[in-house]
Amino acid sequence: MKVRYQQVSPYQVRAEAIAYFLPSDEPYRTATLDRIREEFPSVAPALSSTDASGKRGTALLAYAADQDRSRKVVLVGVGQTNELTAETFRRAASTAARRVQNGIRSCALVLPEWSPLTAEDTAYAIVEGAVLGSYKFGRYKTVDPPEQLEEISILGTERSVTVRRAIEQAAIVCKGVYLARDLANMPGNDLYPETLAEYARQASMEAGFRVEVFTKRKIEQLKMGGLLAVNQGSVRPPVFIVMEWRGGKSKDAPIVLVGKGITFDTGGISIKPAERMGEMKMDMHGAASVIGTLYAAAKLKLPVNVVGLVPATENMPSGSAYRPGDIIRFMNGKTAEIDNTDAEGRLILADALTYAERYSPKAVVDIATLTGACVIALGHVTTGLMGTDRLLLERIKVAAEKTGEYVCELPLYDEYLEQIKSDVADVKNSGGRPAGAITAALFLKHFIGNYPWAHLDIAGTGMAPKEGPYTPKGGTGVGVRLFVEMLRSWDTGT
Ligand code: BES
Ligand code: MN
Ligand code: ZN
Repeated sequence: MKVRYQQVSPYQVRAEAIAYFLPSDEPYRTATLDRIREEFPSVAPALSSTDASGKRGTALLAYAADQDRSRKVVLVGVGQTNELTAETFRRAASTAARRVQNGIRSCALVLPEWSPLTAEDTAYAIVEGAVLGSYKFGRYKTVDPPEQLEEISILGTERSVTVRRAIEQAAIVCKGVYLARDLANMPGNDLYPETLAEYARQASMEAGFRVEVFTKRKIEQLKMGGLLAVNQGSVRPPVFIVMEWRGGKSKDAPIVLVGKGITFDTGGISIKPAERMGEMKMDMHGAASVIGTLYAAAKLKLPVNVVGLVPATENMPSGSAYRPGDIIRFMNGKTAEIDNTDAEGRLILADALTYAERYSPKAVVDIATLTGACVIALGHVTTGLMGTDRLLLERIKVAAEKTGEYVCELPLYDEYLEQIKSDVADVKNSGGRPAGAITAALFLKHFIGNYPWAHLDIAGTGMAPKEGPYTPKGGTGVGVRLFVEMLRSWDTGT
């Protein structure tokens, strides 16, 4: 998708559709409608319709008669100007892009002059909404592939380097989100540990970060017993992907992001029911979010050091699979009793959290489609947030507020530890149904090193059962914008 800023009038722009944001309060509403009448006189009749109210969530599509063709003109209501936020613009821009999408390649959106946000923030949000809202996963459709917008222009009257820059940056971040969505949506027959590593490599070459892929032999040498146990049932070897973007000072400790990379989760011997098991092709969404973040961080040349770690394997049942009752030993020497082979994510993350210690990191944040319990607690709207470090948790909350990727903190009280006590090993991998998201995080806590740690459970927010305001059905790409925002504001605190 091409995204750019253009300093031309809506009438002159070479785009097949033009979108205007329409506020509901005066004088802005009338001023906007007057402007449209002037630029596209042929749509004037539609503008006096009650549909042109400017109410938030509404949209009016009209066709302007040009010399040789007709162009779509869409008006998207945004409500009261004094209540406008970045999120309003994201949603409205997505509505615009989705509304005009059929049969066209290019859409221009008019940057409103009455926005209470800065022109930069407004443009940034509009790009996010238009690009993210128009995503299509079409690569497997050979018949009637979905139509995807190819060009988005933001139209402004002023020549502004900063607005241009904001648009470029938003486009880069959205590309990272697209990458995460594509990886999450790809099926397990094409996306498995080795191909996931290959995609990480491709991203690294395009964006300019480093990547190293540990194969099974190296994983064995490192004694990553959690990753190896989960991998036992699969005919496909595991990988451990290490990505590094060093945009900060060379001596600066990095921020480490860890993503769960289960490329397909059958549950293993504790097999899942057949119904909707196919969704478990997205069980590597955490990994996808980390890869998408590294891509964006490197492309943006963020002045921070970031490491991405992805332990990846399938979780399959077979004659060689690990079993309930097994006792496994992790890289840090600790042992776990396997109560349920479907609680596999925490086992592979455990080794990655141990490995993270090598970097003496400033902080470690893991992201994982970890528990069904988190979906029950927070649905598909809000990511579960847990962790040990107040400041880190607050940073994440602030970034979430800014990006509209909601998070909600769940408590890690010691009282819950009882559920994962084992009679025979240091810890048990399942704590049963009550507070499942919390006991999973407490399991991870056994494996953290001497660093601030936070954990994001995206089981609900990563896999969407239906389209959202600017997210598609399926892999949402959640986490990329949140992480980029967290990294971007790490030192400035803004
Ligand atoms: N990948 C699943 C979690 C999941 C469930 C993600 C539904 C998205 C939607 C994870 O590996 C899992 O199976 N967790 C178990 C843990 C239990 C056995 C303790 C769960 O949540 O049921
Ligand atoms: Mn599982
Ligand atoms: Zn899983």
